[in-house]
Amino acid sequence: MPAVDPPLALLAELTHRCPLACPYCSNPVELERASAELSGGEWQRVLSEAAALGVLQVHFSGGEPMVRRELGTLIAEAAAHGLYSNLITSGALGGEREIAAFAEAGLRHVQLSLQDHEASNADRIAGLAGAFERKVKFAAAVRAAGLPLTLNMVVHRQNLDGVAEMIDMAQSLGARRVEIAHVQYYAWALENRAALLPTRAQLDEATRVVEAARERLKGVLAIDYVVPDYYGVRPKSCMNGWGRQFLNVMPSGTVVPCHAAQTIPGLTFPSVRETSLANIWYRSDAFNRFRGTDWMPEPCRDCDRREIDWGGCRCQALALTGDASRTDPVCALSPDHALVEAALSEANASSPPLIYRAYRA
Ligand code: SF4
Ligand code: FES
Repeated sequence: MPAVDPPLALLAELTHRCPLACPYCSNPVELERASAELSGGEWQRVLSEAAALGVLQVHFSGGEPMVRRELGTLIAEAAAHGLYSNLITSGALGGEREIAAFAEAGLRHVQLSLQDHEASNADRIAGLAGAFERKVKFAAAVRAAGLPLTLNMVVHRQNLDGVAEMIDMAQSLGARRVEIAHVQYYAWALENRAALLPTRAQLDEATRVVEAARERLKGVLAIDYVVPDYYGVRPKSCMNGWGRQFLNVMPSGTVVPCHAAQTIPGLTFPSVRETSLANIWYRSDAFNRFRGTDWMPEPCRDCDRREIDWGGCRCQALALTGDASRTDPVCALSPDHALVEAALSEANASSPPLIYRAYRA
């Protein structure tokens, strides 16, 4: 059993409700209902337990966290426990009044998602007319409240050609940082993979534009760039390793090591309604299942990157091979790597319509 350090950050998914319907949403395909959500009081207890456990940062997320009326109280609770709090939002609800109140309550940073630099394509991808205009106003409200702003531009085949304009937009909105992050293929994005995977030529051109902008904007705008790992030869270190630094509390209180963990069969994820966060982090079977390196198969077991990428992503291994304990197939050393090449060929040969995020009956 590996030595376990305390978690660094907690993702507090306050709700799965959201006015947008992005077809790459990382929420599960089976969205949780409002009636199952933790109460404000339960979230306050979670924040207190998180701080006691050693968590340093809390990311308020969703769905759209501003749907929850208690958000200001929860930000204040986080601040009272010394937690650094970040709001991850669509920017489609609320404005100056709410942001000013959140800043007053102790919010430290805002991460605003944008679907494109161009209004009509952004609204089409978000599945909500007028969303882009609201987001631009929201960005101004964040700056007016004196909070640092990061723009999160999720890129894919249907907007990747506008990367240069996205960077210009981040500057004009007063962002300190822009994340140009390619869609990760789980949940809704996996359902839409053939419509979202970019071509190699698109990716190469976007990478060239980002590298030039990074050089030009050094000290002015930080640019994070996440490429689709389907085009890589080694996998990403998903969550910096299973159960090493992060935990997500879902709207109903279920605690998972990553967004897609619940897709893995045979794992039972405990709830903060049943036991403490500390018990879940240190002692639950689910958090211990893929911790460290003991679980690894070959070729990971003897690989000198095994404590760098931790064998890649368990949920991607499951999605592609049906077995979460295999080497992530995006690794060129994986015996399953041909599955990734087949997905790229399929995507490059087709352009199916988008399936939008929606509650399913
Ligand atoms: Fe990472 Fe495993 Fe590939 Fe080595 S073999 S690079 S540890 S995924
Ligand atoms: Fe679950 Fe990567 S998303 S381990």
